[in-house]
Amino acid sequence: MADDAASAPPTAQLAAASISSPPSSDLEPPTSRTRIRAILDAGDAMAGERVVVGGWVKTGRQQGKGEFAFLEVNDGSCQGNLQVMVEKDVHPLASLTHTGTSVLVEGVLKKPPAEAKQRIELKVERVIELGEVDAAAYPLPKTKITLETLRDFVHLRARTNTIGAVARIRHQLAYATHSFFDENGFLYIHTPIITTSDCEGAGEMFQVTALFSQAEKVEKELKENPAPSEADVEAAKLVVKEKGDAVAQLKAAKASKQEITAAVSVLTKAKENVLRVEERSKLKPGLPLKGDGKIAFENDFFKRQAFLTVSGQLQVETYACALSNVYTFGPTFRAENSHTSRHLAEFWMVEPEIAFANLQDDMNCAERYVQYLCKWLLKHCREDMEFMVKHVDKTAIERLELVSSTPFERISYTKAVEILEGVDKKFENKVEWGIDLASEHERYLTEVIFRRPVIVYNYPKGIKAFYMRLNDDQKTVAAMDVLVPKVGELIGGSQREERLDILKQRILDADLPLEPYEWYLDLRRFGSVKHSGFGLGFERMILFATGLENIRDVIPFPRYPGRADL
Ligand code: 4AD
Ligand code: MG
Repeated sequence: MADDAASAPPTAQLAAASISSPPSSDLEPPTSRTRIRAILDAGDAMAGERVVVGGWVKTGRQQGKGEFAFLEVNDGSCQGNLQVMVEKDVHPLASLTHTGTSVLVEGVLKKPPAEAKQRIELKVERVIELGEVDAAAYPLPKTKITLETLRDFVHLRARTNTIGAVARIRHQLAYATHSFFDENGFLYIHTPIITTSDCEGAGEMFQVTALFSQAEKVEKELKENPAPSEADVEAAKLVVKEKGDAVAQLKAAKASKQEITAAVSVLTKAKENVLRVEERSKLKPGLPLKGDGKIAFENDFFKRQAFLTVSGQLQVETYACALSNVYTFGPTFRAENSHTSRHLAEFWMVEPEIAFANLQDDMNCAERYVQYLCKWLLKHCREDMEFMVKHVDKTAIERLELVSSTPFERISYTKAVEILEGVDKKFENKVEWGIDLASEHERYLTEVIFRRPVIVYNYPKGIKAFYMRLNDDQKTVAAMDVLVPKVGELIGGSQREERLDILKQRILDADLPLEPYEWYLDLRRFGSVKHSGFGLGFERMILFATGLENIRDVIPFPRYPGRADL
């Protein structure tokens, strides 16, 4: 098919357009679906049209003494359901009405009677496909179920209104992220998930290793076929000697070329056997250890220790120091034993990195990005945001409106501590200069004192990562955290230390080895440049937007201590 942009349908029609090809023969029924969103958006304008609709039954009931059934069908394209009416002559009704049943049906859209609350419904003429549900075994009830209970059914929970809305909001935030950075000239860089350097230097990394599976394999093999002893090795070597002698004798006796070639071939096989026997004789059960008892990672897959990344920052800096405006957006992993409603072991982070930018520029970018996300949701996710207001958090839309239109407060860490020390509130964690602000302090600043997002900058160097630029006072670093109501820390960022000697010293002061960071230091050795960046916790942004309480409900497959379902 020609790729002709001019003849492409306008976007408004795309929502309704089929994504499947037309049937190739009369034997295949047409399955080009109309999405429910397109039907509901059209109000009653589509009345009279024949459509195919597919989705899952939210609720179903038989009526008119079993003459017909009404199904509320949802296909994920929007919050709303389409009312679908099926008569008993079209299909046995009992198999259609259970919650969770999937249906693909063809029929005609019509206006329901004036007193009905729907503006449009589908009168079914044909059930094309059906995925039945054993109602007694289906774990999701029709009635309300808590988000906590739903976490035991992560494979089914996307069928609920709340998780469906979160999925659409999450999608829009991801789309808005790419849109924002693209509009501002940033390149999307895919940084590695497996890394050999600890970005935050906090030692909270999950290790990536093949040593355990290797050890298991060896152990199993040794059980079936024990390792050769020293005597076995000697015996194999003896065979080599004998076969070598035999070749020598044949050569001395001027035997035929054929005879000699045959004997040499036997000798080669005997030599190969020695190598095999020697190799196997070294096999030992358990992990490979070095002389000092430490694990020999040179025997591991990457021939060195490797981890799941805690942040793509260090790697994305290499591209910023060549292409100037870049960002990475991917999963990050932290092996911290946090059971809070704000922490996951696997979460997604958006990390821009800007060359020639100082901390002010970094804060400006963070503020504009967060505001852009809020505006985007107000524009593109109205229905799902209204759902959140109704069922989750009354202030969700107000909060987006406030944040998208109000400049963020900016205060130094020192000032923040002064303010917190001065307030008439007893915090669980005592406030004094030098502490890492706890969530209660962060939320107090943004929710009570300023009632808007707050950017706290210039933190004590002792509580921040080695790569943050040392300020002239030698006590603080050019770091900044964006704190927002409902969540606390949404963004952490900094100007990066671009001076080679100081950076080296900061790595050593943090008790980190220099070797894994030599490549990072190279960026300072060769064409070093002032640069800054930040990381936005993507799930925290969704918490902020939706008002949901627990981060485990805003990622499709949450991972946290004790749980990694699916
Ligand atoms: O403040 P953090 O640790 O900063 C970094 O990782 C930097 N390397 C980012 C950069 O400058 N490129 O993490 C950034 C954000 C936090 O502000 C928080 O929103 C989120 O990531 N975050 C988490 N989200 C969920 N679960 C966790 N365990 C998180 N840890 C951090
Ligand atoms: Mg942080």
